[in-house]
Amino acid sequence: MTHPFDPGYGTEPFRTLCAEYPDTDVYPPARFRVEWGPIFHRGRLDGSARVLVIGQDPAQHETIVRRILVGEAGRRLQGFLAKLGITTSYVLINTFFYSVYGSVTTAVRKKPELIAYRHRWLNALLIDQQIEAVVTLGTLATEAWQLWKATPQGQATNVAVAAITHPTQPESSAKNNKTKLAAAIKAMLKNWNAGLQQLAPAIQHPDQVTPLVLYGDAFQDGDRVSIPAGDLPAGLPAWMHEQDGWARRVGTDEQKKRANITITVPKGVLS
Ligand code: URA
Repeated sequence: MTHPFDPGYGTEPFRTLCAEYPDTDVYPPARFRVEWGPIFHRGRLDGSARVLVIGQDPAQHETIVRRILVGEAGRRLQGFLAKLGITTSYVLINTFFYSVYGSVTTAVRKKPELIAYRHRWLNALLIDQQIEAVVTLGTLATEAWQLWKATPQGQATNVAVAAITHPTQPESSAKNNKTKLAAAIKAMLKNWNAGLQQLAPAIQHPDQVTPLVLYGDAFQDGDRVSIPAGDLPAGLPAWMHEQDGWARRVGTDEQKKRANITITVPKGVLS
C-alpha cells in the first residue's frame, strides 16, 4: 500500500513565502498563539487548483498537522467542494496565518504588514493561475478577499466568488444549545446552497462531473468528507485526517490551555 502525501513548500514562490513569514511584530502574542508557529495552507501549490478557499485561522488540529482546515470545519468544507465536483483541485489559505487568541482588534486586522503578507500569497495563487472560483468562509475572510480585490492585481482578476457562512459558525453561535445548533446548521446550509448555485456555473474543470445536489436542513451521511492523505505531510497517521477530536487544548486556566495541546489516539485505533 502506498501513502500519498503533500510535498510541502519546496518550490517558489512558496519556499520564500514560508521562509519570510511575519513574526510577533506583525502578529502580536496578545492576539495570536504565535508560540505554535504559523500554518500556511492546504491543497495544491502546483498551479492545478481551480478553487481557492479563504478560511479564518488555524485551530489545534491544524497546529499539530501543519496544514489548515483539517478538523470539523475542514471536513464540512471538503463536502461543499465535493458537491461542485472539486475533490483535489483546490487550495486553501487562512485570513490569519497564526491561531487567533480571543479576538482580533480592527487595528491588528488592518496592519499593513499583515495584509501585505497575505496579499503575497493571494498574488501567488491567483495571478496567471487557473482559479475559477473563490470561496470565503465567514466575515473576516470576506474582508480579506475584498482587501485583495481592491489592489491593482485584484482589480485585474475576474473569478466567481461566494462568501459563505463559516463552517463552524453554528457551534460558535449556539453555545451548546441543541435547538439553536440545529437552527444555525439549517440556516448555514441554506446559505451554502446559495453559494453552490452561484459557483457551480463557474466551475469549468471539475475533478469529477457531478450533478449539483443541494443540502437538506441538516448534514446527511456523505456531506462531511475526510481530508485526503495527499493534503498532509508525509507519514501522518490515517486517524489524524479521517476524524477529529483527537487534539484538545487542556488546562485549568487560559494560560495553561494556551500552553498545552493534548493528543489522544482515538478509540478503535489501538486494539
Ligand atoms: N481551521 C482553519 O484552519 N481555518 C478555519 O477557518 C477554521 C478551522
